[in-house]
Amino acid sequence: MQKVPDQDRNPGLFAKPSTRVDDEKKMKQRNIVCVLLAVGFLLSVTSSCTRHREDLDYSYDVVQTWSLPELQHGEIIQFDTVFWEPDDTVSLRKLIVDDSICTGRSVLEIGTGTGLVAILCAQNGADSVVATDINPAAVANARYNAAMLAEEMELEVRSVSTDAPTAFAVIKDKEKFDLIISNPPWEDGKIAKPADHAFYDPDFELMDSLLDGLPKHLNPGGRCLLAYGHAPAIVRLRDQAKQRGFDFKILDDRKLDELDKDFLPGMLVEIRIPMKLPTAKP
Ligand SMILES: C[S@@+](CC[C@H](N)C(=O)[O-])C[C@H]1O[C@@H](n2cnc3c(N)ncnc32)[C@H](O)[C@@H]1O
Repeated sequence: MQKVPDQDRNPGLFAKPSTRVDDEKKMKQRNIVCVLLAVGFLLSVTSSCTRHREDLDYSYDVVQTWSLPELQHGEIIQFDTVFWEPDDTVSLRKLIVDDSICTGRSVLEIGTGTGLVAILCAQNGADSVVATDINPAAVANARYNAAMLAEEMELEVRSVSTDAPTAFAVIKDKEKFDLIISNPPWEDGKIAKPADHAFYDPDFELMDSLLDGLPKHLNPGGRCLLAYGHAPAIVRLRDQAKQRGFDFKILDDRKLDELDKDFLPGMLVEIRIPMKLPTAKP
C-alpha cells in the first residue's frame, strides 16, 4: 500500500501548494497592515491639525480669516462680534514691525480685539505682552490667535468686567509697562451689545482712566501710543492730557484740522509723562 507521504520526510511534496496559500494569506495580512498604518497616520495628522486645547474657547462663530504681510506664521481668525479694521492701526503696526518699538520691552495693549497688535508685539521682540478686552468674544478670540501665532511667547490676555470697565482694572497695583498701546473706542455712547464696546466709550471713562493711570503704570521714559481716526476724540484727548500736565504729540504728517471728522487710516498720538509733573493746584 502506498503510504501517505510524510511531510517531514519529504517536504518538497507539500512545499509548493502550501506556499501559494501562505503567500496569498501573507499578502492579505500585509495589505491589512498597510491600510491600518495609513489610517493611523491620517488620524494622527488630522488630530494634530485640529488639536483641541482645554484653555481655549471654541464656542464662538468665526466670521472670517485674514492674512497680513507683517504677520508671521499664519492668519488671524476673527470671531463673531469682535472688531477688525486693519486701517485703524497701520502706523502703529509699522512702528512695531519696522522700528522695533517693542523689542526688549514690556507692553500693555488695552482693548485687543482679535489680538493682532499684541501678537505683532510678541512676534517682534517684546519681553512680555499683556492684552485686555471687555468683550468676552474678543478675549477668547485673542487667546485663540495668540495660541496659534505666538504660542511660546509671553502673551497674556486678560478679561475686563463690565462692572469695572476702567483702563487698568485688570492690571495689578505695582504692574508697570514700557509701552502702553491702544486703538480704543473713539466716541462717547451707550453700550447695547458686546460689539458696541469697539465703538463707544461711555462718558469717555476708558480714555480718562487711561490717562489717570499712566503715571502709575508707565515706566519712567515709557511711551503711550493711541490710534484714532476721529478728530473730536483726538481734540478731547489732547485737552485732557494737557490738563494733567502730560506731553502730547501727533505722530502723523497730516494736519488734524484739515481732516474729516472721521478718517482712515488712523492717526497715532503719543503721550509721555514728564519727569516732573506739575503739582496739582489746591
Ligand atoms: C476699536 S476696537 C480695537 C481692537 C483691536 N485693538 C484692533 O485694533 O483691531 C476697541 C477694542 O477695545 C475693547 N474695549 C472697549 N472698552 C474696553 C475696556 N473698558 N477695557 C478693555 N477693552 C475695552 C473693545 O471690546 C474692542 O475690542
